[in-house]
Amino acid sequence: MNDTSRGMTRSYVTHLECSATGERHDAGRLHGLSRARMPLLVRYDLEAVRSAVSRDALAKRPLDMWRFRELLPVMPGADIASLGEPATPLVRLSNLQGIAGVEVLVKDEGRLPTGTFKARGLAMAITMAKAFGVKRVAVPTSGNAGSAAAAYAARAGIEAFVFTPDDTDDITLREIGYHGAKVYRVNGFINHCAKIVREGAATMGWHDLSTLEEPYRVEGKKTMGLELAEQLGWDVPDAIFYPTGGGTGVVGMWKAFAELEAIGFIGSKRPRMVCVQSTGCAPIVRAAEAGKDRLEAPWENPTTTIHGFRSPGPIGAPLVLQAVHASGGFGVAVDDAAAYAARAEAAAKTGLNLCPEGGALLVACRQAIAQGRIKRGERVVLFNTASGLKYPMPPVTRRLDHAKAVDYEGL
Ligand SMILES: Cc1ncc(COP(=O)(O)O)c(C=O)c1O
Repeated sequence: MNDTSRGMTRSYVTHLECSATGERHDAGRLHGLSRARMPLLVRYDLEAVRSAVSRDALAKRPLDMWRFRELLPVMPGADIASLGEPATPLVRLSNLQGIAGVEVLVKDEGRLPTGTFKARGLAMAITMAKAFGVKRVAVPTSGNAGSAAAAYAARAGIEAFVFTPDDTDDITLREIGYHGAKVYRVNGFINHCAKIVREGAATMGWHDLSTLEEPYRVEGKKTMGLELAEQLGWDVPDAIFYPTGGGTGVVGMWKAFAELEAIGFIGSKRPRMVCVQSTGCAPIVRAAEAGKDRLEAPWENPTTTIHGFRSPGPIGAPLVLQAVHASGGFGVAVDDAAAYAARAEAAAKTGLNLCPEGGALLVACRQAIAQGRIKRGERVVLFNTASGLKYPMPPVTRRLDHAKAVDYEGL
């Protein structure tokens, strides 16, 4: 721990607002869901932020997520639970078939602590939990949020309990345990893990960090949108492709663009928000393509092996769908095998080691270009949400005996 609150002299938070009813909740205490059992969104005095910070002032600050402090809920004097959260690069994809004429940029979130975009949300949530005196947190997770929760909890001196589906990647499970969290494999899906957290919270004194049930993770994820707009010279791309599970990133970025417009940093243009999921679990895509503004039912039987896509009935679905529809965006469901193949192709041809979710974005992007949903001359951003180093790669089978003559021509 023990970064300071970076010279914050005041907080610009006015209240938290129920995303369904608009009801105000006091910002001065710890929250989960709203009284209507829906996600809470943090609201700021944007007029005051507008007078307090300029683009030029921002440009002089360290290149990390805390540079946007006036639009973050950090309280003055609070310790920031930081492991160093750098601005992640935008890497242009070229040398790949099917994207000619389109500027395809990968925002590589794999460069963050614990190797995933989850660092942004959990750094923020743990910072707030610490400020409110929380001693114990618990999180149901498909894996990556668990690593980030464990690492930031360790940083802040908070005890962490993590519950993951049985078949979570071993490397991630080990990482969570290595950071000192108590991690349990659960013989079910993330909703079964969530039930364990919900039902144990009172007995265990846990603060529940579940996606969009905890209001500050989304504020951390919001920095993806703030940072992107700044990197593009205070502009937004024509489309954002986002691998959607719980959808926090979509909700966060959508909120970021609205707040940036309100403080005069960007105009009214919005990127088309494209939610990418797996054909083996695509509740948001199904609802988006049917023009619905909420899920009629959770996805019946998730079969995808891509962990970030295994959210059969995310609580934030109405907020995600609102962003998709309002932006003129759409949903794309991708076959797992195609996602893995695109990941391998990108590794070999572009040098970027994408996560499987990132591979799915590439498939979705090419498909959207082929269908004319993305046009020549447009600029799109694919959010590679984790480093490919956290996922299995094919084994190496070639061997050489140094004591024998090497057949160089045959290498
Ligand atoms: C690598 C990766 N990508 C995407 C997602 C989905 O993120 P979100 O819940 O913000 O939709 C996850 C969530 O676990 C993930 O680990």
